[in-house]
Amino acid sequence: CGIVGYIGNRNTQEILLEGLKKLEYRGYDSAGIAVHTGDRLEIRKAKGRLAVLEEKLKDAPLTGSVGIGHTRWATHGKPSDINSHPHTDNSRKFTVVHNGIIENYLELREELSIAGHTFVSETDTEVVSHLIADEYDGDIVKAVQRAVKRMRGAFALGVLTEYEPDRLVAVRYASPLIIGIGNGENFIGSDIPAILEHTREVYILEDGEMAVLTKNSVEVMTIEGQPVAKDVFHVDWDLMTAEKAGYEHFMLKEIHEQPKAYRDTMGSRISPDGRRVVLPELKMTEGDIRNIRRVHIVACGTALHAGLVGKHVIESLARIPVEADVASEYRYRNPIITPDTLVIVVSQSGETADTLAALREAKRAGARVLAITNVVGSSVAREADDVIITWAGPEIAVASTKAYTTQLIAFYLFGLYLAQTLGTKDEAFIASVIAALKELPAQVEDILEHSAVLKQIAESMAKHSSLFFIGRGIDWAVAQEGSLKLKEISYIHSEAYAAGELKHGTLALIEDGTPVIALVTQEDLYEKTLSNIKEVKARGARVLGLVNRSNKDEVAKSVDELFAIPDTLPLLTPALSVVPLQLIAYYASLALGHDVDKPRNLAKSVTVE
Ligand code: G6P
Repeated sequence: CGIVGYIGNRNTQEILLEGLKKLEYRGYDSAGIAVHTGDRLEIRKAKGRLAVLEEKLKDAPLTGSVGIGHTRWATHGKPSDINSHPHTDNSRKFTVVHNGIIENYLELREELSIAGHTFVSETDTEVVSHLIADEYDGDIVKAVQRAVKRMRGAFALGVLTEYEPDRLVAVRYASPLIIGIGNGENFIGSDIPAILEHTREVYILEDGEMAVLTKNSVEVMTIEGQPVAKDVFHVDWDLMTAEKAGYEHFMLKEIHEQPKAYRDTMGSRISPDGRRVVLPELKMTEGDIRNIRRVHIVACGTALHAGLVGKHVIESLARIPVEADVASEYRYRNPIITPDTLVIVVSQSGETADTLAALREAKRAGARVLAITNVVGSSVAREADDVIITWAGPEIAVASTKAYTTQLIAFYLFGLYLAQTLGTKDEAFIASVIAALKELPAQVEDILEHSAVLKQIAESMAKHSSLFFIGRGIDWAVAQEGSLKLKEISYIHSEAYAAGELKHGTLALIEDGTPVIALVTQEDLYEKTLSNIKEVKARGARVLGLVNRSNKDEVAKSVDELFAIPDTLPLLTPALSVVPLQLIAYYASLALGHDVDKPRNLAKSVTVE
């Protein structure tokens, strides 16, 4: 979900709506705003995209100089007008927008009901507005502090009361929130793009901090009321990067930004002579690295898929055993974490609740945690012992592309760094991998030039209701990401299978004409995968071979169609082979007329467990 808030002399409604537009990628099944119109609080909300709310406001605009807004991704209660935020209490004097989850909301609801409160929605958030009303005795800050003490869970809140139109209150508790500092005006936002148009000076609230905003001041304190002196964080990315820059969709733009993102992520992390990786941002010493006996990679969604490649990379370069696990599973399976375990959390946003919880669990168990994330100052970045930032720039499309590929680059760099520190690979080998890494951006550009072919392939695949991705080893890891990408935005069902495993059951699902995308980029596994291709062909599959240019002819005889990527080292192929799969997913979604950047039921950043 997304939160925005404003206090100042400009058109509050417009500023809130613009902010919500920038946040729509965080959730978009309903939206709403509350504005203090001078004498009263007015709330407008609507199920559906922001445009529905805008339409509603056209007929009855709200004017005032303070307000809060929200775009929702449903957790408690289905998307509906009533379940949308802002929520209010029975007196309608208090209004709240909220991200996260109030775990004890049923208990609180029970208590408040006994005290005479009645509830209209199914949400946990509504309880917060009632709780604040219950605690209010003339000072909204104190009321919020007391209310928060009664709540358990993860939340970021924006609070406004009719009684105090000169104050806006924001709270962060395990759900991100920032304060934008303006001139004669101030902002709150769950994310930087919400306010970037207005200011680049922000405070990033820490867990357990709250802020009280007036037009001319921002006061930050703990939720216990202790004043906190904050450093101003200056945002240096520009708004253009958060806009589409001429592309039809953010996803297409972000796919095309990959060559630059690769270069930026490698950037100064390669020594000028191209023989070593330098990671000055790491605090871990040579001793710490020598101490690592095992690595756990923990993440969700696409970031986990980058971790599956990361496992191959680290095991192959540094010969340290690696497990990759889903964050929401890892946390609850009592994982064997020892002080010689390095836990690597991977997260584009750095705010995914499951990943953050796994990070905390790992730290609690005494592991050293390295974060690979795209967001400087994110929760994951701040709580990990070490951080490698992927310089992908803001990623807006829900389906992750450049964040995934730059996570791969981060794994290559870190794997090489381990190898050079441990001496598992010699300098000449490391230099050869670095040289191949530097070729990748131009090779991605080469693939992008062949988009038209992929568009045709995608359009014919879009006619089917089910398809398969197969591959072995590192190709299987990429197959899983290709399959997820397709499912996320085209809603076509697909499965990614280890090529050798298909015959142990799922082969039954291959019918006449079922499309199969076979990744065949690993030289030592060519022949084995070719046998699996024959198995699916014999059942009528139509096979697209995703191959290297150098093995093109060998595979051509066994498949119906081919797409060849430029040659690179076997370990580096994922950074190339995923790009055609991203484009196939994109064009399939487009052909089916779906909302590419905002697929149904998904959100960019999921800050609930
Ligand atoms: C959400 C998104 C996925 C993403 C996952 C992890 O579910 O829809 O695309 O891969 O979260 O996000 P993170 O920001 O932690 O990489």
